[in-house]
Amino acid sequence: MSGEKTSGTALPGMDAIATGPTGRPKREFAVPAALTEHGPARIIALCNQKGGVGKTTTTISLGAALAEYGRKVLVIDFDPQGALSAGLGVNSHDGLTIYDLLLGREKDTRLAVQQTTTPGLDIIPANIDLSAAEVHLVNEVAREQILARVLRPVLDDYDVILVDCQPSLGLLTVNALTAAHGVLIPLECEYFALRGVALLVETIEKVKDRLNPAIQLDGILATMYDSRTLHSREVLERVVEAFGDSVLETVVGRTVKFPDASVAGTPITSYASEHPAARAYRQLARELIERGAVA
Ligand SMILES: Nc1ncnc2c1ncn2[C@@H]1O[C@H](COP(=O)(O)OP(=O)(O)OP(=O)(O)O)[C@@H](O)[C@H]1O
Ligand SMILES: [Mg+2]
Repeated sequence: MSGEKTSGTALPGMDAIATGPTGRPKREFAVPAALTEHGPARIIALCNQKGGVGKTTTTISLGAALAEYGRKVLVIDFDPQGALSAGLGVNSHDGLTIYDLLLGREKDTRLAVQQTTTPGLDIIPANIDLSAAEVHLVNEVAREQILARVLRPVLDDYDVILVDCQPSLGLLTVNALTAAHGVLIPLECEYFALRGVALLVETIEKVKDRLNPAIQLDGILATMYDSRTLHSREVLERVVEAFGDSVLETVVGRTVKFPDASVAGTPITSYASEHPAARAYRQLARELIERGAVA
């Protein structure tokens, strides 16, 4: 395991070669050019069946950062807990939700879309009703493809659609993976981070095999990283050992600003615009654009 890592140190007379937290040379990601036209959207599922790893926080913060760069973004709350809706200050109790669309109670997907306070960032909310969806959908024809069908009519309205999955590998998550062009896996930098990732990768492979041959792993995002602890650094080192270049260069630090921002119902990028955590999500947006995961 690692000892102390050097970061940006150099012998006298040598140029400093800065290393990022992943141990690779530090990189700058260019500010992307503005888009002249929008759509069709690439769909990205944020997925990890482990709870509390930063799926919802990443959906909100990345969505807001991409919107700042002029991308048209739709986020889908795909968790009955409705944390994404709450974190964006959206009312998910009156009005249509993703559940109404999945069950075919409302056929026009656009009617369920709500604007958020961030320009360019829209949401289809969810509430606890969604917890009944798996039971209701289990006997449907092509039950894994329902979300893909629901999103099809709005693809041309957006550049990217982010789906915030619940912490499970059940039918809803399989729907998200079937609809998705890519998967982004947030991983908390703590000891058991890698537990369960093999099962997640196996599920993605099964979906690729049987339902969605085009799906790609867009990246693994290390979250809640604390550079002051050896533990955090060791976990990140093991994650890089296991997943190599799939691990994104951008690493999100641990900070209480995130829970504060979600209480305020505002993305970190506007709640604490110059905080390192807001900058990290802007960097993530630029990195994903550079990797071609987002237009
Ligand atoms: N980088 C971070 N630093 C500190 N706290 C964070 C960070 N990212 C997220 N959190 C907090 O950790 C908690 C869990 O985060 P979040 O809700 O994004 O995870 P999740 O994977 O969506 O959880 P669930 O599986 O329950 O849906 C929240 O209280 C959130 O504010
Ligand atoms: Mg969540």
